[in-house]
Parts: sequence; structure tokens; C-alpha cells
Amino acid sequence: MTFNTIYQYNFPTIIRFGAGSSKELGDYLLKNNLSKPLIVTDTTVAQLDFFKEIINDLKKKNISTEVFNDIHKNPVKSDVYKGTDVYDATHRDAIIGIGGGAALDVARAIVLRVNHREDLFKYDDLIGGDIYVTNDVPHFITIPTTAGTGSEVGRSAIIADDETHQKKILFSPKLLAKIVYADPLLTMELPSFITAATGMDALTHNMEAFLAKMPHPMCDGIALEGISLISQSLEKAVNNPDIESRSKMLIASLMGAVAFQKGLGVVHSLAHPLSSLLNTHHGLANAVNIPYGMQFNIEGFEHKFKRIARALELKEESGEAVVQYLFDLNTKINIPHKLADIGVKQEHIETLADLAIADFAHPNNPKPVTREDFKQLYLKAL
Ligand SMILES: NC(=O)c1ccc[n+]([C@@H]2O[C@H](COP(=O)([O-])OP(=O)(O)OC[C@H]3O[C@@H](n4cnc5c(N)ncnc54)[C@H](O)[C@@H]3O)[C@@H](O)[C@H]2O)c1
Ligand SMILES: [Fe+2]
Repeated sequence: MTFNTIYQYNFPTIIRFGAGSSKELGDYLLKNNLSKPLIVTDTTVAQLDFFKEIINDLKKKNISTEVFNDIHKNPVKSDVYKGTDVYDATHRDAIIGIGGGAALDVARAIVLRVNHREDLFKYDDLIGGDIYVTNDVPHFITIPTTAGTGSEVGRSAIIADDETHQKKILFSPKLLAKIVYADPLLTMELPSFITAATGMDALTHNMEAFLAKMPHPMCDGIALEGISLISQSLEKAVNNPDIESRSKMLIASLMGAVAFQKGLGVVHSLAHPLSSLLNTHHGLANAVNIPYGMQFNIEGFEHKFKRIARALELKEESGEAVVQYLFDLNTKINIPHKLADIGVKQEHIETLADLAIADFAHPNNPKPVTREDFKQLYLKAL
């Protein structure tokens, strides 16, 4: 950090965190004169008991609900257009995202599209499209049901092109939720595989944020505490969940997303191409790649790995010990160690390396990453 520069630090929205907090939703809507929310979720979450309870509770309060759940696992532009059509046709006055990162991202992109009708990708942040996000947006509320992406406190939505599957980032501070209901009870029944994959996404956010280049001591503190909370709870949340482990994972995933306004790094750039090319779940893609990406980052950053090792309470405070911890954690939560086990083949490597070098995450990695580095990392992990 230099002391002759002015930095900008942004922190998120109101967070109502704790078991049962989602039950406050109806009263919040009424207090804010909102009575016709569009509820954006996915088809799986729409079938779960807690979701039905939320809808019933709103109905009892005479709040008109319209549910939109027609979304892809890795959301695409047409999902956003369809959801916006429903918003318009049913005259909604607010948007509530309930679900994992996919549902929350679609909800946030609909929030943008309601009053911004140019082609959605005109607002792509990577081509400076955020400057076109100038109009008001609908009142936006998020309720996460996975502990992974932290999208509930984010200002961006990752949406892919329907044909090319290339992921675009829609970004604007206007896309922050007005309030987040982070209720660990909604994550109690998350299947163990999803708990593991989304939890490793959260760990990757915290670790990559801590290592990211931008000087941001506030985020560094949050990231280290996030790492510590995950080390105390992920294995338990996967293999023997209780309210404590679910709560720690939910707050840690939210902390990871707050911290990664600093930036992410090499692991996310290794992971994104797997989702674009092979439709791999985002968290799983990070989980398999993180030990290799962290190994790559050690040289020159031993002092930072020492602090990560301390947060993990490892006996040996070194980068190598952190890498070993990550492999061991993956074993304990049934995540494979090799890309071949999640469908990657030798013939994919060149395309993956092309996509990875073009990805937005690695410019913030502490060490520069070349296309050849990506290729070698994929080969090592294969
Ligand atoms: N906006 C951001 O900052 C950001 C950051 C990282 C990733 N993402 C995006 O988030 C998406 C991944 O999100 P995710 O990891 O949460 O996965 P997800 O939203 O795809 O959810 C994973 C699965 O879990 C199910 N599920 C969700 N909650 C459940 C519950 N409580 N009980 C049972 N099943 C439940 C879903 O139906 C889905 O099948 C990707 O599209 C990725 O691009 C966004
Ligand atoms: Fe992520």
C-alpha cells in the first residue's frame, strides 16, 4: 500500500443475518409500500418447503406474488429477457431473488433491464458499459439459499450469451440489494455435494481476495476471518450439518463476496472456462483448481501465505502447508483432485487456456499469469 494515493472502498447493504431472518420479508415489503414483487428463483428451489412457506406468508399478508423460475444453471441472456417480460406483463413493483448465485444473478440482471432496454450486453462492465446504467432500478431484495457466491451482497451479475456461452459481467452500484435476508435455516437441507462445491467457491473468494493486488486492508481482515470461519465449518456442513456450521458458512460466503471487491485471481480464471465450455458448476470448478492455483501463487508471496496458514490454524505456517490443506479438505468433502474426474480431456486444454487468458479475474492475481502458465496449470491438474 502506498500512502500518497486515494483509494475507494465500498461496503454493502443492510444485512439481516440469522436463523429465521427471512420471516421478516413480508413486514419489510409492507413497510416500504411494496405489494407486487417478482420473485426470481430456479425450478429446484421453487419446490422446496421453505420457498413455499415464504410465498404463503406473503400471501397471508395480502402481498401479490409472481414467481419466475425459468432459468439456466449457468444463466443466459434470454432468461433475463423472459423474466423482464413477466415483470412488465404482471405490473410488478419490486424484485426479490431467492436462491443460489444463478437465481440471484438473473434477479439482479432483471433489476437492470427493467429500465435499461438497450441490448443487455451493452451494459457489459468489461467494455465500460456500466456508464450506461443511469436510470432508476426497482427495489431489490436478496435471500441466499446456498453459501457460496455471496452474490446477495454483490453489485454484479454474471450472464452468458445464449449462443457463444461467453460470460459477461453486468455491474453497477445501483444493482446492490436494498436489504439481504441471510437466513442459515434456508441452507439446512442443501445436499452435501452442493454444500461442498459452493463452500469451496466461498473459500476461493476469501483466499483470492486476500492475495489480490489492490491494497485494501479492510477487505484483507474480512477475508482472513472468512477463511478461518470456513476452516471451522465446511467439513461439518458437508458431512454432519448443524445450525452452527451452516451459519458460519453463510456469513463466510457473504464475507468472501465483500472481500473480492479487491479482485479475484488465477483460480477463478482457471474455473470460468470450465463453466463456459463444459457447463461445470462454478464452485466445483474452483474447488478442483484451487490447490494448483495457490501452489502457483506461493513464490514471492510467502508472507501472505503465512497469514493464510495462521487463519487456518495449520501447524506449519507455509504456502506448501496451505496447498496440502486444500487437497486434504477436498478429500474430506468428496471433491476430486483431478480435472479428468470432472470431464476435462486433453483435447480441451488449448481452448481452456485461450478462454482463461481472456478472463477478467486474473489481472488482479498477485503474480502475472501467462497463457502458457494457464496451460501448464490445466495439464498439472488434469
Ligand atoms: N454475482 C457474483 O458475484 C457471482 C460470483 C460467483 C458466481 N456467480 C454465479 O453464481 C452461479 C453459481 O451459484 P451457486 O454456486 O450458488 O449455484 P446455483 O445457484 O447453481 O445452485 C446450485 C444448485 O443448488 C440448488 N439449491 C439452491 N439452494 C438450495 C437449497 N437451499 N436446498 C437445496 N438445493 C438448493 C439449486 O437449485 C441448484 O441446482 C453461477 O452462475 C456463477 O456464475 C456469481
Ligand atoms: Fe466464485
